[in-house]
Amino acid sequence: MIMDVVNTIEICQPDDWHLHVRDGDVLPDLIAHTAQQFARAIIMPNLKPPVTTAELALAYKQRILNARPSENSVGSSFEPLMVLYLTDMTTAEHVKNAKQAGVVGFKLYPAGATTNSDAGVTDLAKCSAALAEMERCGMPLLVHGEVTHADIDIFDREAVFIDQVLEPLRKTHPGLKVIFEHITTKQAAHYVRDADTSRLGAIGATITPQHLLYNRNAIFSGGVRPHYYCLPILKREEHRVALVEVAISGNPRFFLGTDSAPHAKGTKENACGCAGCYTAWHAMPLYAEVFDAAGALDRLEGFASYFGADFYGLPRNTGKLKLKRQQQSIPESFPMGGSTVVPLRAGEMLAWTIVG
Ligand code: NCD
Ligand code: ZN
Repeated sequence: MIMDVVNTIEICQPDDWHLHVRDGDVLPDLIAHTAQQFARAIIMPNLKPPVTTAELALAYKQRILNARPSENSVGSSFEPLMVLYLTDMTTAEHVKNAKQAGVVGFKLYPAGATTNSDAGVTDLAKCSAALAEMERCGMPLLVHGEVTHADIDIFDREAVFIDQVLEPLRKTHPGLKVIFEHITTKQAAHYVRDADTSRLGAIGATITPQHLLYNRNAIFSGGVRPHYYCLPILKREEHRVALVEVAISGNPRFFLGTDSAPHAKGTKENACGCAGCYTAWHAMPLYAEVFDAAGALDRLEGFASYFGADFYGLPRNTGKLKLKRQQQSIPESFPMGGSTVVPLRAGEMLAWTIVG
C-alpha cells in the first residue's frame, strides 16, 4: 500500500479557548507567543485579586491590547475574549452588566481547586440567581471540573465532580450552556460525548495539548518533573487514549483550549511547585503532532479553528495558519517580564513548525 505523507497543512487560523496570561510586565512576552498562532483567546480571570466585574475585565482587556505585538507585525490584531470569575457574591446584575460589556462567559472555580482559586465558589446554591440569569441570557459557564475535598484522591477529582456537581448543576439549570474545561479523563470525554442536549443545555469541552500527549508517568520519569505538573493532573494512559479519540472524532463538542499556564521557573522548581504547563509558544505544533500520530490531520482544523467559535456563537476566523513537518528544538526557557518560564518539553524536539 502506498501512503501519502502530508508534509504541510494550511488551516483556518485557530483560537485558544482557555489561556492564562497573568498581568503586568509579563504580558508582552506571553501575548507574543499566543498571537503568533491564534487570532483570539479566552483569557482566564484567576488573577490576584480575581477579575469579578465587567469593569475589571474591560480594564484587563485594555492592558492586554496594549501589550500586543506592534502594528504591522504578526499578531498585532490578536483579540482577547474576557470571562469573569464566578464567586459566592456574583449577582444577576453582574451577569447583565457582563453581557452588555461583551464578556463571553463566567468561570467556575470550586474554591481551592487550583492556582488562585481561593475566591472560588464554596456552594453553587449561593450563585443560583447569577446562574439563572446566565441561563436566561445565554451566557456560558466555563467549569473547572474537580471536587476539592481532601479525602477524594487527586486522580479521581474530575470523575467525582461529574456525578456530584456537574450533572446536578445542569439539571437545576437546564438551559445553562456549559464548557467542561481541560478534560482529562475518559469519564469526562464520554459524559460530554453522550450528553443528551435536547433535555439539558448545550455542553462542550476543551482539551489541552499535554493531556493529549502525556500520561501521568511523565510527571515521574527518572525523578519528579515539575513542568509536567498541572491541574487537573495528568491521568493514566487509558484516559489519554480516550481524549485523543474524542479530539480527533470530528465531534464539534470538543475543541482546543491550551490552558497554557505560565509560572516563573523558580515557583515550579520548588519544594511546593505551582500547577501549570506552559505551551503557548508551541501549542499548534504540539496539537499537530497528536493529530498526525492518530492519522487525523484532516480533523485538526475543526478542533482548532471551527468548533470553539461555533460553540460560543462567534464568527470563524478568516486568516490562515500554515504548519510544516519540520523539526525544531524547544528552547530551555523564555523571558517572562523580569523572570523566565520553562515550556513543556523544554530542550527537546518538535516535529512540526509554523511557517506562516
Ligand atoms: C492554572 C494556573 O496556573 O492558573 N494551572 C493549571 O495547572 N492549569 C489554573 C487552572 O487552569 O487550573
Ligand atoms: Zn486554566
